[in-house]
Amino acid sequence: MQDDFIWWRDGIIYQIYPRSFADSNGDGLGDLPGITSRLDYLAELGIDALWLSPFYPSPDADFGYDISDYTNIDPRFGTLADFDTLVAAAHQRNIRIIVDLVLNHTSDQHPWFLESRSSRNNPKRDWYLWRDHPNNWQSFFGGVGWEWDAATRQHYFHMFARQQPDLNWRNPKVHQEMLEVFRFWAERGVDGFRLDVFNAYFKDENYRDNPRKFGLRGFERYNHLYDINQPEMHPLLNEIRTLLDHYPERYAVGETFVASPETSASYCGPGKLHAAFNFDFTFRKFSAAEFADSIQKWTQATGAEIWPNYVLSNHDQPRSATRYAHGEDDTRARLALGMLLTLRGTPFLYYGEEIGMRDIRLKRSEILDPPGQHYWPFYTGRDGCRAPMQWDASPQAGFSSAKPWLPVHPNYRQRNVAAQQQDPGSLLNFVKKLIALRRSSPALQRGDFRLLCDPAQGVLSYERQTTAQHLRVHLNFSARPQALPATDVSPSLVLSSHRDSLNQPLQIAPGEVLILQTPA
Ligand code: GLC
Repeated sequence: MQDDFIWWRDGIIYQIYPRSFADSNGDGLGDLPGITSRLDYLAELGIDALWLSPFYPSPDADFGYDISDYTNIDPRFGTLADFDTLVAAAHQRNIRIIVDLVLNHTSDQHPWFLESRSSRNNPKRDWYLWRDHPNNWQSFFGGVGWEWDAATRQHYFHMFARQQPDLNWRNPKVHQEMLEVFRFWAERGVDGFRLDVFNAYFKDENYRDNPRKFGLRGFERYNHLYDINQPEMHPLLNEIRTLLDHYPERYAVGETFVASPETSASYCGPGKLHAAFNFDFTFRKFSAAEFADSIQKWTQATGAEIWPNYVLSNHDQPRSATRYAHGEDDTRARLALGMLLTLRGTPFLYYGEEIGMRDIRLKRSEILDPPGQHYWPFYTGRDGCRAPMQWDASPQAGFSSAKPWLPVHPNYRQRNVAAQQQDPGSLLNFVKKLIALRRSSPALQRGDFRLLCDPAQGVLSYERQTTAQHLRVHLNFSARPQALPATDVSPSLVLSSHRDSLNQPLQIAPGEVLILQTPA
């Protein structure tokens, strides 16, 4: 590893949804000791950091994204001592830990909200957004965003489920408490923070109505001028960054909610966040032209100053293999991961993506996710991508000795880590090769990026280079073999999903990932 290696820039970040990764105590729910027990697997995979979705005490109205205590561990996931053990064991393996901070809202069972709703005169009344008359702000999970509280005869605002009341970030005490949350985890050795819907923390002071626009779902029918992206966020980010910069090599990545590449980029840079998620791939069709367009738009928005990132899957979207692949064939998953792991920008991998896990399908009565329950059958929610990790072919895929909280995908007997470890041609072994290559290649980690030819033919080609290393990546998204552009000197083969040697004239097979090197 180079001396100037910066983990969040040059490394690969792996997202774990703790309740679905590994269950150590047989209650059907993954937990922190379960994650610790799988660290060797993750180290061997070659990732540099883990982002853990919430593990804090939560009534689970939104599966951990409704937090009732920011500085503790839900007993179902373990204890603070288990957390310390996980951090120490990860650090021993050079794996950093990123925790998920959900600071836009609390659970309605958080002691702050219980106090706030207890009476209009309670000192914490103003910690949340209470109004006599609702305005037209909507809940992202469906319906109006205001909930009537019969006892105190006012409405409170919730951007998500009604069990997730939004905090009033304008209240200085809320502001202070929240900065304490950062300090608490930074002091415990956490390396980074993922900020859940941070660009919604502040709402318009005068509660102005959002203008209407065309859209399908309720939330999309408004132009979110007054409930998202308020100017107060910028000085706050500066304060957060100053706090983080007191510790060495800390990182903050924000989940920009409903935002253009330009808006996302405006939150990043010196004195702001290190990164804001780029989810654009998750909305794109599987085509060279679509991905090229996406890469160009984000490259333009981030410019030279902001380090980009790419996401193919997370706990809110159908998995990449589900979106792209045909049946159990992994050709398309190989192409997508070949792209993710060779672009200029931090790759985020979602647990199980390395073995091509597909989403599970649920009957209506089995749906647990609140927006899935609300919008069924038009939208079936996010449970599909949150199924248990498929470790081996034993019952419950080696995830748990009990019935898991969500069913295991029926393909687990064939598609699992143990089987793919044994198979040299598996997706897992291909991903490992790509990661090993990225780790050993300064050009892939931080070299310049240049798109090479018109992707209209179905081949996405780009150059990644430093002064010492020139690489070309070719990804054939089309169903036909394609000729590759000639180079002045003959290239050498670095990695291919399809072959061991190069033939002239250079061609790329359908579905092939091909990485070539030319002399620098
Ligand atoms: C973010 C999370 C999502 C959660 C929502 C509310 O979008 O990624 O899972 O439901 O915030 O906290």
